Amino acid sequence: MKIGILTSGGDCAGLNAVMRAIGLYAYENIKNCEIVGIPEGYGGLIRGESAPMSRSDFEGLLNVGGTVLGTRRTPFKTMTVPDEGGATRLERMRANYKKMGLDCLFTLGGAGTHRTAALLCAEGCNVIGLPKTIDNDIYGTDVTFGFHTAVDVATEAIDRVRTTAASHGRTILVEVMGNKAGWLTLYAGIAAGAEVILLPEIPFNIDKICETVVRNYEAGKPCNIIAVAEGAVLDSEAGFKKKERAFVRTDRGETTVTAHLAEVIGERTGSETRGTVLGYIQRGGNPSAYDRILSSRLGSFAGKLAKEGRFGVTAAIVGREITFNALPEIAGKYKLVDPSSQIVRSAEDIGVCLGR
Ligand code: F6P
Repeated sequence: MKIGILTSGGDCAGLNAVMRAIGLYAYENIKNCEIVGIPEGYGGLIRGESAPMSRSDFEGLLNVGGTVLGTRRTPFKTMTVPDEGGATRLERMRANYKKMGLDCLFTLGGAGTHRTAALLCAEGCNVIGLPKTIDNDIYGTDVTFGFHTAVDVATEAIDRVRTTAASHGRTILVEVMGNKAGWLTLYAGIAAGAEVILLPEIPFNIDKICETVVRNYEAGKPCNIIAVAEGAVLDSEAGFKKKERAFVRTDRGETTVTAHLAEVIGERTGSETRGTVLGYIQRGGNPSAYDRILSSRLGSFAGKLAKEGRFGVTAAIVGREITFNALPEIAGKYKLVDPSSQIVRSAEDIGVCLGR
């Protein structure tokens, strides 16, 4: 069996660990197995590039962050647009899949990667997806690999911000990644005891935030920490598309949601207010123990799926068990935070303001 592996979309911790588990499973359990790595995501497949990966290439990858194959964002909407040569990227990928003699292709990526993987399946390629992203927004899996490492990183960062905030008696906003989904902000916010948590799924009311900040100081709190998702939206912007929102915000002279909030909260509450953006440190670095274990389980399971000839699927964890979903059923769907879920309510029940 000839296997191809690629990593696509934003990097995160656990990509190498998943590859390692696929490679070790395949070399241990599949007869006459040959594995090639495809560089830079779907870009490598479009160009027809690959390099052999022997068993030893998979050793030592368990605790290494990033991806040894490299990754790129290759937007789904560009897949079916013809290039100068008249062929679409999808057609080039299908042709190269055949030319490379692949029997199976593992695609490690997020929601966008899965959409393209579903297209490749429809074109007759044997694809198995692996759910990667710090955003934890892939439909059909309780957790994606990379998420918990990012939660640990963001939590530690917020803890550090808190000591400065407390020393200075400040309100500090910490911007956490997540455009559509607020999982990372919600988890890191709860873990770091943030006083306010703002998610894309729950449009916020600035008055409510200011009331909370003032009330906390009056109650003797030394500082306020506001964990804000990069995709958090004002209640007046609810329902706007990303482009419309950007337009309205530029019109108001805003840079980011965090900068805007820092200014308004500072003005209205009279507290010294600052904003800080965590950015890419949330994606980088070595996987946590949780992610090493999840990645090993997902990769091993995906290797087994290949051995059994189950293609057109993506590995997932549901409850305590690793399982799989049909790619066409999950492609294009997102798993977002439910504003009425127990975890959200439990935060509100202990006084955390969700901006509503
Ligand atoms: O991978 C998901 C994500 O981390 C989002 O939370 C974030 O908005 C985005 O990637 C940033 O990606 P880029 O690498 O394109 O700046």
